[in-house]
Amino acid sequence: LHKTIPAFRALRRTISPEKSIGFVPTMGALHAGHLSLVEAARKDNDIVVASIYVNPTQFGPNEDLDKYPRQFEADRKLLEELGVDHLFCPSEMYTKNHRCFVDPVGFDDLREGSARPGHFRGVATIVTKLFNIVKPTRAYFGQKDAAQCVLIKRLVEDFDMDTEIRVMPTVRENDGLAMSSRNAYLSDEERVVANIIYKSLSAAKEVFEGAFAGNLPMDSNIISETVISTLETEPLVKEIEYVAVDSKETMEPLKEIGPEGAIVSLAVKVGKVRLIDNFIL
Ligand code: PAJ
Repeated sequence: LHKTIPAFRALRRTISPEKSIGFVPTMGALHAGHLSLVEAARKDNDIVVASIYVNPTQFGPNEDLDKYPRQFEADRKLLEELGVDHLFCPSEMYTKNHRCFVDPVGFDDLREGSARPGHFRGVATIVTKLFNIVKPTRAYFGQKDAAQCVLIKRLVEDFDMDTEIRVMPTVRENDGLAMSSRNAYLSDEERVVANIIYKSLSAAKEVFEGAFAGNLPMDSNIISETVISTLETEPLVKEIEYVAVDSKETMEPLKEIGPEGAIVSLAVKVGKVRLIDNFIL
């Protein structure tokens, strides 16, 4: 366990350059989704590093920074059991004189970006800082956060970072609900119906693969309307913030889906809880 940047750097200098390092950055409150990333890192690398840091710069003024779940001891135990070699849990990552940010062009115009202005700037900044400290051979991210994955791949390519990005599939509950620390905020009743999100994306996938396969390009509205009409059958879905059909490579909107496919993603409120999910088509 390393709680400061100098402490981790000192450890990092003792690791031989021959060893591969797999890195899993997290904000804690770990669930099976996070743990799948750790397992992948364990399989692929000599050494596994995980970090827990609730990064203030990626939270908006009206977001849940203060009430973001913190359960450090439980997290640490889980990571130890999965064979994480080194845990980096800095208490602070920004000095009072901090001035430099990594500002990815256009990401606030993406659907998830416009819902959370400044969020991706915060993510790009903290991931750059973490990569500079950990210097990983490979780093692991979840497809659950589709735009974040696109951002991190851009970051590494644009800044010539010597780290390979591996994106792992979304881990789901038995009923299809994507695992998220925010699921804990759902009431029992909301939790039961929240799998409407999975059902709506499955319906879209069926439409894409069934009726229209071999008949590409197809109008992306057919996909988004399928998702929306399924979500609208559930009264506890209080708000459909967006349903988007985007390019896999850039997360920019697609009018038509060609043979290269697309990502259909959404953000909805079930009760008061904002949930996101996506399927690759
Ligand atoms: P956090 O939300 O803690 O997520 C850490 C990693 O776990 C991310 O790569 C996320 O995509 C992945 N993840 C979350 N739920 C998942 C699921 N159900 N299946 C598979 N992977 C899942 O994402 C962040 O933290 C932060 O933005 C971070 C990258 C750490 C920068 O602060």
